[in-house]
Amino acid sequence: MSDNEIYFEELTQKNKSDILRLYNEIYSKQNHSSLIAHLIDKPSFFGLCGYQGNQAICFLLANAVLDEIDIIELAVKENFRRRGVAFKLLSYFQLFCIERKMQKVFLEVAQNNAAAISLYEKLGFDRIGLRKNYYSQNGFYIDGNSYCKNVNAIKNNPVNSTCTGL
Ligand SMILES: CC(C)(COP(=O)(O)OP(=O)(O)OC[C@H]1O[C@@H](n2cnc3c(N)ncnc32)[C@H](O)[C@@H]1OP(=O)(O)O)[C@@H](O)C(=O)NCCC(=O)NCCS
Repeated sequence: MSDNEIYFEELTQKNKSDILRLYNEIYSKQNHSSLIAHLIDKPSFFGLCGYQGNQAICFLLANAVLDEIDIIELAVKENFRRRGVAFKLLSYFQLFCIERKMQKVFLEVAQNNAAAISLYEKLGFDRIGLRKNYYSQNGFYIDGNSYCKNVNAIKNNPVNSTCTGL
C-alpha cells in the first residue's frame, strides 16, 4: 500500500481513541465530546476511521436499529478536505450497509452546511424532510434537512439510488 492510500478500519476499542481525538479536533467549539464518548460504546453503534499512513484523517459514526442505520457524524480532518476523502468514506460505508443487509440509511444535515449537502446529493441521497430548529449553532437555531438512501438500490447503482417507498 502506498503512503497516500486511504484505508478504513471499523470502530474497535483499539481505534476508538483515534476517532474521539479527531472528533474533538474538528468540533472543538461544540461540547458534545462526552456525549459521543458515551454513545460510541453502545452495541448498536458502528464506526469507521480512515487512515493515511498511520494518521487518522476521517471518521463516520452511525447507529443501527434493525435494518435501518442513521449516520450520526461524519467528518474529515481540515487539511485533507476537497480530495475525495468523504466520498471514499461514504462509498466504503455503503458497502458495509449492503454486507449487513441494511435497508435504509438516514441522516440529518444543517441547512447551512453546503459542503455536506452537496456531498450527500452527489452520492444520491434523497431529501425527505425538514426538521425545524434541529441544530443550535452559536446561540441560533438552524433547520435540518433529513436525507435517506435506499440500500437495495445501492447494489444496482451506487451513486444514484433513490429512497422510495418510505
Ligand atoms: C463535509 C465534509 C465531510 C466533506 O469532506 P471532503 O473530504 O472535503 O469531501 P470530498 O472531497 O469527498 O467531496 C465530495 C463532494 O462533496 C461536496 N463538497 C465537499 N466539500 C465541499 C465544499 N467545501 N463546498 C461545496 N461542496 C463540497 C462536493 O460535491 C464534492 O464533490 P466534487 O469534489 O466533485 O465537487 C467536510 O467538509 C467536513 O468534514 N466538514 C465538517 C464536518 C461536517 O460538516 N460533517 C457533515 C455533518 S452532516
